[in-house]
Amino acid sequence: MAKTSRIPGLYKMTIAERRSLVSEVTGVTEKEMDHALDGGGLDAETADKFVENVLGTYALPFAVALNVRVNGKDFVVPMVVEEPSVVAAASNAAKMVRTAGGFSVEADPAVMISQVQLTDVPDVAAAKKAILARKEDLIRVANEAIPGLIARGGGTIDLEVRELADASMLVVHLLVDCLDAMGANLVNGVAEYVAPRLAELAAGRMGLRILSNLADRRCIHVRCRARAADLATDDMPGEAVIDGMVNASRFAELDPYRAATHNKGIMNGVDAVVIATGNDWRAVEAGAHAYAARTGTYLPLATWRRIDTEEGAFIEGKMTLPLALGTVGGTLRVHPAARLGLKMLGTTSASELASVAASVGLASNLAAIRALASDGIQKGHMALHARSVAVAAGAHGDLVERIAAMIVEARDITLEAAKRALELLDPKGEGAIEVTEE
Ligand code: MEV
Repeated sequence: MAKTSRIPGLYKMTIAERRSLVSEVTGVTEKEMDHALDGGGLDAETADKFVENVLGTYALPFAVALNVRVNGKDFVVPMVVEEPSVVAAASNAAKMVRTAGGFSVEADPAVMISQVQLTDVPDVAAAKKAILARKEDLIRVANEAIPGLIARGGGTIDLEVRELADASMLVVHLLVDCLDAMGANLVNGVAEYVAPRLAELAAGRMGLRILSNLADRRCIHVRCRARAADLATDDMPGEAVIDGMVNASRFAELDPYRAATHNKGIMNGVDAVVIATGNDWRAVEAGAHAYAARTGTYLPLATWRRIDTEEGAFIEGKMTLPLALGTVGGTLRVHPAARLGLKMLGTTSASELASVAASVGLASNLAAIRALASDGIQKGHMALHARSVAVAAGAHGDLVERIAAMIVEARDITLEAAKRALELLDPKGEGAIEVTEE
């Protein structure tokens, strides 16, 4: 938790000024930021311990989303993402949500599913009965594989048997509360440990023994509101924006082609937080999309409706998605920038981390469909693109915004136009940095 997640004007400051202010509100020191973030946060020697055949590292921007308030607590949220406007859009949307009370989140317990496949089962009904009759004993055996987790208060809490559309196949699910761990290693260990016993009881053979990434026992349920007045744009009143957003939600609810893009906008926010805190974003992506398709039709993870209250009209968004994240183990143990990301967030709780990541996902969705329902997405993207063109032309400080505004206004967002604008505003080159032409 941060002292506050409101830092007006952060985007206009230099990186050094930003580090100083973020340090003030999060308690992470500037020295820690210098150490963990300069040079991409990971040296080649450390990277060489992660995977095979390492040649070097590949850096991405590490930024922070502001204004995020979840269950009454403020968070300065680390985001690692290469796409322009994702961080700005999430921060803007979080600001609107904040003035309407912030994000409300409920997190399921950290229960992961460990799957054991049983094949060549001669009598599936008898096998199911035999396994369920020894449920308590099997849970006890499963827990022998994870003494550390048991000592911390987690462990296997249930066992289920599922029949599949194959008369000789069964799958056993062991449900394991992984507490603050993502849990892949724990549940894989459980599956491998208990599988021989299960195969024996089923009079069949062991098949696969692995976690399921459809972590639907570990969902985050998040909701938020934003006021019509805060949603209004220069060209559109707030109530019309609400209508457009409800329309956008209905589109995604009715069309999987749109739902995929709607969900991509959510994952823009979620993944960036997942990566910044050293978690497995492929697992999160697999789980989110499998969950979106759980009914047999691919659906939007978040939906939006108009709410009329005594205070006026609001848009209300609701989202549920599985989020298997950890605050211990894995990459966190070895990646300095991931450790810093978590420290900046100020939590050691995996469910709180997942609550924040989901909130940023819902904020990203709010921002995207608000833009799509009003000005269209290109206007904002072009403004950001214009800033990078201005920087490429050699502008810095205040000049970046001024030149970006000029080339957007002239509808000529090119390097040449930015150079001409720079020449005009700063003929002596006093405020411009030197650029070398390729
Ligand atoms: C782009 O990264 C994400 C959007 O396409 C999401 C959406 O269409 O809702 C803008």
